[in-house]
Amino acid sequence: MTTALKNDLFLRACRGVRTERPPIWIMRQAGRYMPEYQAIRKNTTFLGLCKTPDLAARATLLPIDILGVDAAILFSDILVPVEAMGLDLMFSEHKGPSFPNPVRTRADVDGLEVPDPVSKTGFVAEAIREVNRRLASRVPLIGFAGAPFTLATYMVEGEITKDFSRVKRMMFSEPETLHALLEKATDTVIRYLSMQAEAGVHAYQIFDTWAGSLSSFHYRSFALPYVRKIVQAMRGYGLPSILYVNGSCALLEDMKEAGADVVSVDWRLSLSVARKRLSESTGIQGNLDPVSLLGTPSVLKDEVGRILKEMEGRPGFIFNLGHGILPETPVSMARYLVRLVQDGLSAPQPVE
Ligand code: CP3
Repeated sequence: MTTALKNDLFLRACRGVRTERPPIWIMRQAGRYMPEYQAIRKNTTFLGLCKTPDLAARATLLPIDILGVDAAILFSDILVPVEAMGLDLMFSEHKGPSFPNPVRTRADVDGLEVPDPVSKTGFVAEAIREVNRRLASRVPLIGFAGAPFTLATYMVEGEITKDFSRVKRMMFSEPETLHALLEKATDTVIRYLSMQAEAGVHAYQIFDTWAGSLSSFHYRSFALPYVRKIVQAMRGYGLPSILYVNGSCALLEDMKEAGADVVSVDWRLSLSVARKRLSESTGIQGNLDPVSLLGTPSVLKDEVGRILKEMEGRPGFIFNLGHGILPETPVSMARYLVRLVQDGLSAPQPVE
């Protein structure tokens, strides 16, 4: 089904094939930095947008039409299936996501369900089908889910915190409770990603954003085995997979053991080092600092040039940011970034 794609650079790079240039997409490519997104978002809540297939599809298509990136990523959120597990979810403008009744005890964990994805989150499958209709095979569509440890972090902390002390306290005092939670999250994610695969995504990314807060030892116990289980369970669909961790520097070799086709690297680690640490059988995605899009076009050009040079001749490279694009990013800079990667460093600069 992927053979009919007009632009399959991204899928070829995921599979480790040498491509004529690196494909590029941008984490959080449909977001608040785009006036067209704000216009769609104005009349609804963020969750309302995620749950309305027509609106989610419109948001998903924006960066394809406006930036010309080489892959679409479904517009949704990693916390959508967590709400379906039975936790009330709120998004506020300034604080981001929160759970007013967080998971703190074994009884809380036992009270969560492993939801049927179609009856509880069928709007996601519907959005995927709608996106593919509108994409008309222009570029592949990436599905995604949060990794169990990152989902557990939100469920236990109840809000975004700096030091993750509640979930880590559970890890150090009641590890079996945390493992029980991680197991439920794993089963939920496998069923949720299977639904996405059946609805027609061409690849999937697992966001283990907060696993970078763990030592290698604890990563190997509380994060890696669950991600590996997901990757193995999904193997039958034959879709390329990407694993993202923010702050992956200390964990790169451990992450590789999850078995995903591509490991996503943030800006803290030079890609010339990353490519030495990962054999060519693993693809690399990354790793521009999102803040560089707030600087000048000429410095952005230098940064892109540096990254392209670091990865010269390395098959299986996907250009991306090291984390999500910031809401204050000028669209002209995002578009310039895409042009630099697609057309080369002599692409015309936006006016400084
Ligand atoms: O990449 C894409 O364009 C697809 C859409 C997408 C969103 N969230 C949209 C979103 C994806 C892949 C995510 C994943 C996600 N969500 C992660 C993992 C990636 C990462 O950034 O680390 C995490 C940790 C979340 C949880 C989450 N959702 C947070 C922390 C926030 C608040 C911060 C923020 O940027 O507002 C959200 C809200 C959110 N998710 C928005 C968008 C476009 C902003 C919502 C709005 O319109 O107000």
